[in-house]
Formats: sequence, structure tokens, C-alpha cells
Amino acid sequence: MQIAFVADETALFEDGQAALAVLVFEDAPSSVADAVDRRTGGALGRSLNAGRFTGASGKTLSVWGVEGIAGPLVVMVGAGKREALDAAGVEAAAAHAYAAAKSSGAETLAILLPARSAEFAARAAMGARLAAYRFDRYRTTEKPEQKPTLKRVVVAAEDAGAAETAYAPLAALAEGVEFARDLASEPANVLYPDEFARRVQALTDIGLEVEVLDEAEMARLGMGALLGVGQGSVRDSRLVVAQWRGGGDAQPLAFVGKGVCFDTGGISIKPAEGMEDMKWDMGGAGAVAGLMKTLALRKAKVNAVGLLGLVENMPDGAAQRPGDVVKSLSGQTIEVINTDAEGRLVLADALWYCQERFKPRFMVDLATLTGAIIISLGHDYAGLFANDDGLAEALTQAGTVEGEKLWRLPLPAAYEKQIESPIADMKNIGGRPAGSITAALFLQKFVNGLPWAHLDIAAVAWRKDSGWPTVPQGATGFGVRLLNRLCQGYEG
Ligand code: BES
Ligand code: MN
Ligand code: ZN
Repeated sequence: MQIAFVADETALFEDGQAALAVLVFEDAPSSVADAVDRRTGGALGRSLNAGRFTGASGKTLSVWGVEGIAGPLVVMVGAGKREALDAAGVEAAAAHAYAAAKSSGAETLAILLPARSAEFAARAAMGARLAAYRFDRYRTTEKPEQKPTLKRVVVAAEDAGAAETAYAPLAALAEGVEFARDLASEPANVLYPDEFARRVQALTDIGLEVEVLDEAEMARLGMGALLGVGQGSVRDSRLVVAQWRGGGDAQPLAFVGKGVCFDTGGISIKPAEGMEDMKWDMGGAGAVAGLMKTLALRKAKVNAVGLLGLVENMPDGAAQRPGDVVKSLSGQTIEVINTDAEGRLVLADALWYCQERFKPRFMVDLATLTGAIIISLGHDYAGLFANDDGLAEALTQAGTVEGEKLWRLPLPAAYEKQIESPIADMKNIGGRPAGSITAALFLQKFVNGLPWAHLDIAAVAWRKDSGWPTVPQGATGFGVRLLNRLCQGYEG
């Protein structure tokens, strides 16, 4: 998707390849909409009056073959109430405009905003770009008429240069989101731990330092919990350590991702139906990889480390059995009651390694950890758990601003009883009650008292519908925007 900003859009009215998107308020006239309406001899106004379109946000009205406009259509995009329109609203409106025009035949989408500040123009570009994401690597027989036709988004801005400047960090962010979406979309026969590690290693090009620990190294260190999960797979496990040093000698911020490239459940195997969804079980690691890419691309003034625990959870003759006891890097032993509760085993070693080696200011882990979080919160919120109120607050705020919403759940010490084992220091499942909470309590035993937060993203890592304007169905990249925003708060 090409993005451009122009100060004067009149040429686009005469461009037969350009669809126009005009933001329309619910409660106020806008001068752009009026100007376009005059050009069209009042055609837009008549369409507006004839239908039910009110300018409410989230709604669009497409008018085809409008006189005075050379392109195939004009999309009127609801912008809601004038006073309430902010950058996030502009971003969403642009995303809706993109969706309405993507297969119209037009190659260019020209977005006309009611207020043309650099910030609004940049966010409009971001919205259209994220809405345009599509993973089509493996579609070889799609006919041209089935493909989207839009190739370019042009946003009208008061000062095109200033809009370009405002867009640069958002482009870095979009690249991180797209990277995370690409990683998650790849099927597990393509993206196994070593391939995932290679794709992150390629980011050394943009200034990240990347180390990849192999199984021998992890065994030497004593990562029995992580290695136990991967031992039934012919694909070797990896731990990736990516560092971005843009913050001088400041203590780093640490991000840890669950990267189960495929989760069959292991010997505690999952039912066949829907098992294909478990290719998304590396969404946490994908988001951390995307974040690190964004930080490097925009040369963030912050020190950050990203750890990815990469495994494949398979059943075979070498696989871990229910009842096995493993020794984690921390020295604590774990009775593995259910081999399908594998994410916490991977994170246990990654978190311990992280705090011991980096002594970070805080750690945030992201994991598609429990089906129970889907039951608790549905698909619009990720679960948040934290041992630190300040960190929880900062994450919640960042999520609100970026449209990646979090909802905090408690970590009651009393529930630790549920993960007591008769023969080891703990067991890896706590039964049905509060399944997401007992998973988080398990993780907490591996943070060594450091400020820490856990995001259970099982319900938000991918979408089956297009419920969020900037997220077409499929991988969401959830977490990249939120964590990038969090990092901004620590930049000097
Ligand atoms: N990867 C799954 C969690 C998951 C389920 C993510 C559905 C996305 C959609 C995780 O490894 C898992 O299997 N969790 C079990 C834990 C249980 C055995 C305690 C679960 O949630 O059923
Ligand atoms: Mn599992
Ligand atoms: Zn899993």
C-alpha cells in the first residue's frame, strides 16, 4: 500500500482511478463535504437525504457514478459528533472508507478530512494501511476480480510535509503490526521455532541485536520446563533474545512472548475440531517480535529486550507424559498434570531467564494462554494480571489510547492452593475454577518479585470476523501498538 499526502486534492476529482472518501459529521455540516457536494451538483446531498445514513461513526454510504467526479465512487464516511472526533476516530473512519472502496475498481483512495491537521492526516493513513492488511502468499489461483483494487491512499492535509513527518513513526508501528500479523498467519509447517528465529534474526539489519539459544544451550542452563514442552516435536525449540539499545545505560524494559508455533495439546491432545486455530498460539511471541521491529525502525530512545519462547507442542514417543515432573531454570519443580497447559511452562523459564540476566525495570509477558479468558472477557478485551498497580495502570491507559483494550483480573494468593502438587513444588493446572487466574498465579512464581504484568491474549490474537475496523479477519497483531505506546512513556 502506497501512502501519500497532498495539500490540494482537486486533481483527484478528475482522476478516473480515484475513489473519494468524505468524512461526514452526524451533527454539523463540514466544508469539505459541502465543497464536494457543490462539485457534484448536489448529488451527495440528495443521496444523504434519501437514505438512512446519518454520519454516525462506523457507517458508510457509497454513491456510485457521481456527476462531477471522474472516479467510480464517493464514500461518505460517518465521523460521528464533531466535538468528539479525535485521531482514533479519524483512524477508524479511514479504515471503514478503505473497506468500502477496496474492491471498487478504483486504484486510489483519496481521503478528505474535515480537519486537516498533520496528526489527523497521519492517523487516517495509518487506519487505511492497517485495514488493507491481507495475507495472500498462498493464494495462487485468485482471479484479478477477486483481489482488492486499491493500491494507493492519498490523504489531503493542510501541510503535506508535516503530515509526512507525523506519519513516519506510525509507519514504523504499522510495519511492526504487519510483521506480527505475517508471523501469526504463517501455517505451522512453514513457521516452526527455527524459522521464526531466523525471521527475527533478519532484523539485525535494522539495528536489533539478536541471539538464538538452541536446545543444547538451554539444557546447559537448566530450562527443563521449556524443553519438556518441545521434546515431542521433531522441530527443535529455540529461545530468541532480541535487544534494542536506544536508551543509553537505562535499565531495560522487558517483553516476553509465548511462541508455541503449534499446540496440539501434546499427549493431552486437543479435539480435532478447531485444532487448526492453534497455529496462532505464537501470537504473544509475534507481538513481541513486532514491537522490537517497531522500536528499531523508529529508533526509539529506550532500552528494550524481547524474549521469545519458541516450541512446538506435539505428541510422539519422546513427548512429555501427564504426571512427569520437570525442573525449571528457577530450580522449582513442576508436576505436568496436563501437557496442554504448556504455555506457562515455556514462560516459566523465559521469565526467570529474563529477570536473572537483564534485571529489567519490569517484565510484561504476552500469551495466548487460556481458553478460559475467552469465556471471561469475550473477544474485545485481553486479560491483564499484574503484581504492580503502576504498571497495570500504564498498560491499561496505553491500551485505551491504542484501541487494544485490557481488563484487569486479580491474583488472589488463596487460589494458589489449586496448583499445589503432592510430589513437586507445584502442578501446571489448577482445575476449572478461575482457569486464567491460576495460570497467571503459576507465572508469578517465576518473576522473582520483579514488577511484572501478564496479558492473556487468547481471545484477541486473531479474529474470525472483521469486528475492528483496522483489523481485517485473521491475525490481529494485538499488543504491538499497546506496548509501543507503553515504551513511549519511558523515552527520554
Ligand atoms: N493455547 C491454549 C489456549 C487457547 C485456547 C488459546 C483457545 C486460544 C484459544 C493453551 O495452551 C491451552 O491449551 N490451555 C488449556 C489449559 C488447560 C489445559 C488448563 C485450556 O485453556 O484449555
Ligand atoms: Mn495448550
Ligand atoms: Zn497453547
